[in-house]
Amino acid sequence: MIPTPPESTRLTPVTVLGLGPMGRALASAFLNARHPVTIWNRTPGKAGDLPHRGAVVVDSVQDAVRAGEVIVVCLIDYDAVWATLEDLPADWGHRRLINLTSGEPAQARRMSRWASARGVDYLDGAILTPAPAIGTPAGAVLLSGSLDVYEAVRETMDAVGGTVTHLGEDPGQASAYEVALLDIFATSVNGIVHAFALASAEGIEPERFAALATGIGGLLPEMITRFAQQIRADHYPGDRSTIASAASGITHVINTATSHGIDATMLTAAKGVINRAIADGYGSEGLARLASLLHKGGTGSTA
Ligand SMILES: NC(=O)c1ccc[n+]([C@@H]2O[C@H](COP(=O)([O-])OP(=O)(O)OC[C@H]3O[C@@H](n4cnc5c(N)ncnc54)[C@H](OP(=O)(O)O)[C@@H]3O)[C@@H](O)[C@H]2O)c1
Repeated sequence: MIPTPPESTRLTPVTVLGLGPMGRALASAFLNARHPVTIWNRTPGKAGDLPHRGAVVVDSVQDAVRAGEVIVVCLIDYDAVWATLEDLPADWGHRRLINLTSGEPAQARRMSRWASARGVDYLDGAILTPAPAIGTPAGAVLLSGSLDVYEAVRETMDAVGGTVTHLGEDPGQASAYEVALLDIFATSVNGIVHAFALASAEGIEPERFAALATGIGGLLPEMITRFAQQIRADHYPGDRSTIASAASGITHVINTATSHGIDATMLTAAKGVINRAIADGYGSEGLARLASLLHKGGTGSTA
């Protein structure tokens, strides 16, 4: 539970731009923490119960920005953020802009430069947890950019619950973590649905398959930790399994998928990297070595 401040405490007025599931969750968390909250969304009618709980709905972005001291923007992507903020008058006064929209590190850095040119205090951020976790101890938000701005908004951002971590002065860092984590998520989801398609083509019931497939998920935390140590040390022992062995395993999957007419593009791409590693003489090393071989055009250490 987030402690309720005494009524007499003046809390920072917060504006939330964007009322998708995440924007609504953020606005709700700020309301729960007793902040005065103003909300705006491009399409009206998305505020749910927020107005009944005290949020002020405004029609124009300009009015929304004017009402807040901390402006939290959470839209579908950076193009939407540009479309929303670009034409605003240059004078933001002492307002602070926190962009929690998912994006790419280069977009975050560009947005930070845009803000800086207007004298707007800016932090970029990434939300690592689903909307229902916001405002609870499970919430996890990364922020990056000016430490001074972070210190200034720290208390306000406590409302989102859980952990709010400042990663440093480079505004692109939060997005950098986010894209790297999304990399795991995107490829995992593809791997999972592909495995279900393959299992189904072989007549395996989804639930029976799931019972064993979850065991694979359980192996990942230890593997991720071990890979980090090996990449840091630039040393990839093949004592547990080797790249050559992985080549054999992935070939069985590709052949079986192909025999059932199941798309194997992602796997053949992965096999291409493995083949390159073997051709370069790394077949007897462990799989973490592959991280250093993914850069287009050749080999080299990631450490
Ligand atoms: N939902 C989650 O659990 C979750 C978790 C982690 C991170 N995030 C990130 O949080 C951000 C928001 O996600 P979300 O789930 O709330 O919903 P979303 O579907 O990603 O975004 C919906 C919001 O974007 C607005 N929008 C779309 N195009 C726009 C444009 N051209 N101009 C202005 N506004 C535009 C929508 O306004 P309209 O209503 O007018 O279309 C709505 O407010 C995303 O970057 C997402 O990756 C979400």
